[in-house]
Amino acid sequence: MVPIGVLASGRGSNLDALLDAIDNRYLTKCEIRIVISNRPNAPALDIARKHHVQTITMDDKGVPKKNWDYDQKTIAALKSHGVLPKEGLIVLAGYMRILSEQFVDLYPRRIINVHPALLPSFPGLEAQKQALDHGVKVTGCTVHLVDREVDHGPIILQTAVAIRDDDTVETLSSRILREEHRILPEAIRLFTEDQLRFEGRRVLFKS
Ligand code: GRF
Repeated sequence: MVPIGVLASGRGSNLDALLDAIDNRYLTKCEIRIVISNRPNAPALDIARKHHVQTITMDDKGVPKKNWDYDQKTIAALKSHGVLPKEGLIVLAGYMRILSEQFVDLYPRRIINVHPALLPSFPGLEAQKQALDHGVKVTGCTVHLVDREVDHGPIILQTAVAIRDDDTVETLSSRILREEHRILPEAIRLFTEDQLRFEGRRVLFKS
């Protein structure tokens, strides 16, 4: 069993999709040991509790967006719930902080993020708005491993979503989100069933 720690800041719909995938036995080789939020009122915490998953709130009010001191407390919480550097997996599910280099280096290739655009296009905040404003006809979502740069690490899965003329940020975001809820569990299944292999930046599937 791969012990998973989820870091979340908001709504928690991707966390919900993961918990459903575990409940439905789509994911059988992992368990979510802890959900940690930097925001005390994050709905993600309620979703975790509803599924009887332990939660920790680590309010980051006043703390810089990227901060090793703060991250060390997160790491201590992860470790105390069995999410250890060599065996665990950390999932960033709408986590609105930037991990420090030290944090990333401690869990090489063991941190996964989901981003609502086809990286390397539109990294950072408001990716759906960036795509609409730019006028691209196709955007989508990406599940990738986290490295030292934001929204940059090796890509595990991507799905394209066509942009319609009458799309708003809301309509586009909701179609992308449906795909996130599909490819995040799929990527975690591949990871936890040891189906991935790495060639430099390329993530390949064992056959
Ligand atoms: C998702 O769009 C995800 O791609 C981005 O933040 C959002 C989180 O949504 N990183 P939720 O909290 O999982 O509902």
